[in-house]
Amino acid sequence: MASLPLPLPTISSHSHLTLRRKLTGKPPHIPSGVTCNAENVEKTPQHPKLDRRNLLLNIGGLYGATNLITTPPPASATPISSPDLSTCSQGTNLNTQQPLDVNCCPPFSDKIIDYKLPHTSHHHRRLRPAAHLASKEYIAKYERATALMKALPDDDPRNFMQQANVHCAYCNLTYDQTGDESEKLQIHNCWHFFPWHRWYLYFYERILGKLIDDPTFAIPYWNWDNPDGMAIPAMFVKENSPLYDERRNQTHLPPTPADLLYSSTSKTDPNIIIPTNLTEMYGEMVRNVSNIEDFYGAKYVVGTAPDPGPGTVERGSHTALHAWVGDPRSPAGEDMGNFYSTARDPIFYSLHANVDRLWSVWRGLRGHRPKEFEDEDWLEASFVFYDENAQLVRVRVKDTLEDEKMGFSYQKVDLPWLDKRPKARVRRSRIASKAVGVSNVFPVKLDKVVRVLVERPKRKKGEEELLVIEGIEVDTSKFVRFEVFVNDEDDEPGEVKERAEYAGGYSQVPHKNSTKVKSKIRLGLRELLEDLDVEDDDKILVTLVPRAGGEDITIGGVKIIYV
Ligand code: C2O
Repeated sequence: MASLPLPLPTISSHSHLTLRRKLTGKPPHIPSGVTCNAENVEKTPQHPKLDRRNLLLNIGGLYGATNLITTPPPASATPISSPDLSTCSQGTNLNTQQPLDVNCCPPFSDKIIDYKLPHTSHHHRRLRPAAHLASKEYIAKYERATALMKALPDDDPRNFMQQANVHCAYCNLTYDQTGDESEKLQIHNCWHFFPWHRWYLYFYERILGKLIDDPTFAIPYWNWDNPDGMAIPAMFVKENSPLYDERRNQTHLPPTPADLLYSSTSKTDPNIIIPTNLTEMYGEMVRNVSNIEDFYGAKYVVGTAPDPGPGTVERGSHTALHAWVGDPRSPAGEDMGNFYSTARDPIFYSLHANVDRLWSVWRGLRGHRPKEFEDEDWLEASFVFYDENAQLVRVRVKDTLEDEKMGFSYQKVDLPWLDKRPKARVRRSRIASKAVGVSNVFPVKLDKVVRVLVERPKRKKGEEELLVIEGIEVDTSKFVRFEVFVNDEDDEPGEVKERAEYAGGYSQVPHKNSTKVKSKIRLGLRELLEDLDVEDDDKILVTLVPRAGGEDITIGGVKIIYV
């Protein structure tokens, strides 16, 4: 089994990026999916305020075409900045216009300090253990810290429920974007997914450490990408423990391994689940990631409508785990299965510690290739959190890029998915004979399997080829999932396990409020086309298979781009 030493990320100097933009009134709307980086321009205008239906119809008719109508991207945008807590609103169900029945606004404070990473001496380093390997003593300590956190006064921002509400507030459209009150703040399904959660865990961990007076205390990670750690870790299923939550799917308790492609029908056979999970992890970490954006998610700045597009891990294993742990007996999949309630389950923090660890692992796998955006709109974005002293602090994305500096590291384990490149069952599959029942009308509803022939406008040297599924419209209050296969022989591809034709999937964790969003995903094709031996073909057959909530998914278009 492969295990990699993780070289420390090199941080380029961004001091030239310290230019601060003053917000003068309402900034222009920035088309999402358009970056300022010239090498990385996608030519699909996605004006958040524009009804894209006509445009998407065009894409549907021209699948593969890249000469779409373009509006020149603005030279600069404004990074997302920390919300004004005084504007936190209970939130509205945008379908019914009724207020939400949950209020997750944090206590108000108008004293905000710009956070500086403390100097961590060697003795104060926090080593985050794999939950399934944690010692009795460690578990006792974690239980004690969590109990203390739950016992804090209700209005203490460090109280467990207040901490859970931090997630709710940032994820349930309760804040306006600072600088554009017509758009809401949402840190999921975009390029802030990794850095925002890193900061969230960072303060959660420091609060716990402070409560037990242990500056080395580190939260455990749920090692669900490794067969040894795939079940819910034992420390979370002990009734009467402060780490226990009864609102979980009772058929998914240990020893059942987590299903990283969960789609609301439970698989139970570990001989299917485990290899399928490893295929999925290989896809999320290696195969489907040609480009930084594929991993991190799409650009999101002031003026961008929420949910422009999630990265591989966010929309894949991460979302599946939320839905897989959540309790089908509760009305909205509580706790883990819904954004507003998910952080009320202590396992949330371990799920996300592993997401965070995978971010570091991925950076290590990149070698000399870029590990992060150099875009100031990403680096300078800021959020606010209450720290371990109940002080409101402003933090920036650019400070999350070195685990070392943030003072934590992860217990090393094997990466069993790293050598799981799937093998093609049929080389040179004959897609022409399969080109019956092919759809070319978009938008199309995914209430059935949809197959589409997509042209490859020929790759140029040195460019990565990406399959883009765009204009994905879903109802955000529903759990949805679909999978994408390329040149698959079957009319309705079933298994993902070790399947070279599997190109990736899309799924999303329900929000409490229901809105329609338009999102997109990008799937790296290089390895897949090599494996199927169809690199020279001028078309590929793409099959979109709904797995959950298909009647609530609409696809705007499918095309190939080169970046
Ligand atoms: Cu902020 Cu896993 O969700």
